[in-house]
Amino acid sequence: MDPTSSFGVYLHVPFCRTRCGYCDFNTYTADELGPGASQATYADTVIGELALAATVLAAAGRQLRPAATVFVGGGTPTLLPAADLARILDAVTQLFGLQPGAEVTTEANPDSVTAASLQQLRAAGFTRVSFGMQSAVPAVLATLDRTHTPGRVADAVRWARAAGFDQVSLDLIYGTPGETPTQWQHSLEQALELEPDHISAYSLIVEEGTALARRIRRGELAMPDDDLLADAYLAAEEQLSAAGLGWYEVSNWARSPAAQCRHNLGYWRSDDWWGAGPGAHSHVGGVRWWNVKHPAAYAQRIAAGASPAHAREVLTPTERRVEEVLLRVRLAEGCPLSVLQPAAVAAAARLAADGLIDPAALAAGTIVLTRRGRLLADAVVRDLSD
Ligand SMILES: C[S@@+](CC[C@H](N)C(=O)[O-])C[C@H]1O[C@@H](n2cnc3c(N)ncnc32)[C@H](O)[C@@H]1O
Ligand code: SF4
Repeated sequence: MDPTSSFGVYLHVPFCRTRCGYCDFNTYTADELGPGASQATYADTVIGELALAATVLAAAGRQLRPAATVFVGGGTPTLLPAADLARILDAVTQLFGLQPGAEVTTEANPDSVTAASLQQLRAAGFTRVSFGMQSAVPAVLATLDRTHTPGRVADAVRWARAAGFDQVSLDLIYGTPGETPTQWQHSLEQALELEPDHISAYSLIVEEGTALARRIRRGELAMPDDDLLADAYLAAEEQLSAAGLGWYEVSNWARSPAAQCRHNLGYWRSDDWWGAGPGAHSHVGGVRWWNVKHPAAYAQRIAAGASPAHAREVLTPTERRVEEVLLRVRLAEGCPLSVLQPAAVAAAARLAADGLIDPAALAAGTIVLTRRGRLLADAVVRDLSD
């Protein structure tokens, strides 16, 4: 473990009550799960992996560093009883330790929290909650197969505030088939009315193999239009920045630097993290590995005292550089020119002339996307990672 980089713990909870048609995350409804894994035994299973992780790191002679961040994601972590999430967090604290002021996030579906469960989570040490809001328009929520009403998000945010969460974040999606610019505007306004500390606004990705992709193929729904997606991004930037939320990653805005998601910044800065749970990825000391994907296979490995890792890779220096460019260019803090190859430095000058990266930042030695560059971030990254 690089002692200078920050250490995070990710815990994957692979359960959802129903599957949203657009989502291809490693998550299972009760029908999809099959035998050999259950929500009821999940906390013990994942605690088993954490214990194994602590032993492996100690055996490798690596000094365990307290976690600066913990992020429980999914799936829908809040489908587990709050007492289970509290036990899992407690295991992280016992086995790894938590740094003072650690950021401890859980993702949550607005439908799967109550005032009481949020209070329990806050009392257990969670400091940040991220709700999947997606939209404030019932028709858009229906197209996305969301089960909550807009009012439920407002309740959940109110409950989280009353419980004393330091940070409340909302996920939004734009580009849903049939969503009008006015509807997206309305969702942004409604989200801002809830005064979140942080907003992630994602362009809807049509993932192969999802119900959404099938519906688009059958002609029932239209593919999101690139021009409308660009307009929706610009609308988000305008409204969010006017309300005091600044972008710090292409799809993420925060009310202040302290409200930025430190856990995700750790991924983007290539810090170390241990990911526990089915399909979770880890990155420690330049080595990456990922766990078996299915919860039943995962539970079987843990029960047998075996590593749940499915495969690992050690990145070559070139792969590390390309990945660093890929992730850091998307950050407002930018990517140091020192990371780039000479050909990419020449490309950077062209990109600045084209208005895609900031010329003043470039002159000072950093690649920072302009607003237009953020719309074309993938293309910019391609040009810079050669
Ligand atoms: C694990 S979910 C959040 C917690 C909870 N499962 C929920 O949906 O309320 C993570 C977020 O990923 C985003 N997401 C998932 N699939 C997506 C897709 N295909 N395109 C865009 N955003 C997506 C959604 O905004 C979602 O809130
Ligand atoms: S978006 Fe959230 S609730 Fe919907 S299927 Fe994906 S993880 Fe589950």
